[in-house]
Amino acid sequence: MGIIREKVTMAQSVKGMRDLFGAEMRWFRLIEDTARRCFAGHGYEEIRTPILEEIEVFKRSVGESSDIVNKEMYDFTDKGGRHVVMRPENTAGVVRAMIQHKLLASSDPQLVYYIGPMFRYERMQAGRYRQFYQIGVESFGIATPESEVESLVMLFDFLKDLGLSQLSLSINSVGTPASRPAFYEAIRAFFATRQEQFCPDCHRRIAENPLRVLDCKVPACQAALEGHPVIVDYLDEGSRLHHERLKQLLTLLAIPFQENPRLVRGLDYYTRTAFEVLSSDLGAQSALLGGGRYDGLVKQLGGPDTPGFGWAIGLDRLAMLLQQIRGEAPVEGTTVLIPLGERATQEAFSLARTWWSKGLAVRLETRGGALKKALTTAHRQGAKLALILGESELDQGLIAARDLAAGTQETWPLAEVEQFLKNR
Ligand code: HAM
Repeated sequence: MGIIREKVTMAQSVKGMRDLFGAEMRWFRLIEDTARRCFAGHGYEEIRTPILEEIEVFKRSVGESSDIVNKEMYDFTDKGGRHVVMRPENTAGVVRAMIQHKLLASSDPQLVYYIGPMFRYERMQAGRYRQFYQIGVESFGIATPESEVESLVMLFDFLKDLGLSQLSLSINSVGTPASRPAFYEAIRAFFATRQEQFCPDCHRRIAENPLRVLDCKVPACQAALEGHPVIVDYLDEGSRLHHERLKQLLTLLAIPFQENPRLVRGLDYYTRTAFEVLSSDLGAQSALLGGGRYDGLVKQLGGPDTPGFGWAIGLDRLAMLLQQIRGEAPVEGTTVLIPLGERATQEAFSLARTWWSKGLAVRLETRGGALKKALTTAHRQGAKLALILGESELDQGLIAARDLAAGTQETWPLAEVEQFLKNR
């Protein structure tokens, strides 16, 4: 009888879902910290909603004709028989929460932001994942172009804080449901004159939601659209004035923008302003962020008639861009404290607890063993400074300070170390 050996295979993460660690994680954290600081400064408060939502939340907002709802949702029936979705985006969930908690009952503006994972069953590419992260902001209760510009100023200040200033904004107006029939008629008439040049999906789109034809990704369709009717020529008066004022304010504030008459966004809830920021440094997945106004959405999901505006930035793509433009995320210059012997260990705990309570970053070596090994590890992990506490130094109120890059060592009075760490 032969011996049957079971082959143990290593578990792998699910396709399209990746682990974040090391340099990429450092960029994520730096971006998130910058976002929180910047948004709080503009009066936005954080909101966290669940990852699972009832499917209706997305069907009634993002729209049944959108790719997201049609093809890309992670949906399933839970053990209680509810049809739920792992959120593909978070505007709909935030609106659901604002209504549920009656936060829109008064006419006071509400400004919120969120950071978290989203899920779309998409074909994978660099910069396109099935679990990805967004940082988003939403404002409720203000219908003016001024509020849009305030949000865009915050967005560009946030990007500038991160060192990105070369990005440009594309804008369009998609009008209101009331102003769309006139445009639909014009685009359908245009389509009819060259329908054989469009893909089968566009034939479905022209019937269901003609705006979607404008951003079809098939190159032949884009070519066939040459000379198409432009939405801004069909706007109602209110939307036209809104769009003009937005452009005027952006110009006054020196925020560069281009008008893109084919920008319609892949989600159904937008009214009037729609916008995106692309970056050629992102390759095929060039959309870094997108957003716009959604004045009908709150009502559509069962809430009071409340205007809304917001945007979401792809955190994975932003981290990728920063890695390309700025290189590795900066590592904090950590310090390692290495005690040698029993008395030194007790003293090291006491010193480290004082420093930690003051917000100073120090890693305490707790493995015991040889000093050489502790120093090699510290150097390999990127620490800049090792503080070595031996018992004879301790008796004299001193500590050895070793510059790990230079390999040089000095002796410092223990009492001065804290100030040194603070100055770094
Ligand atoms: P969205 O354009 O669908 O808008 O997504 C916003 C951003 O999320 C994209 O520009 C992109 O950077 C990132 N993103 C989308 N899909 C993926 C993916 N599969 N992998 C990596 N990154 C991805 C929204 O989600 C709207 N909720 C934005 C909004 C907020 N509109 C109003 N308020």
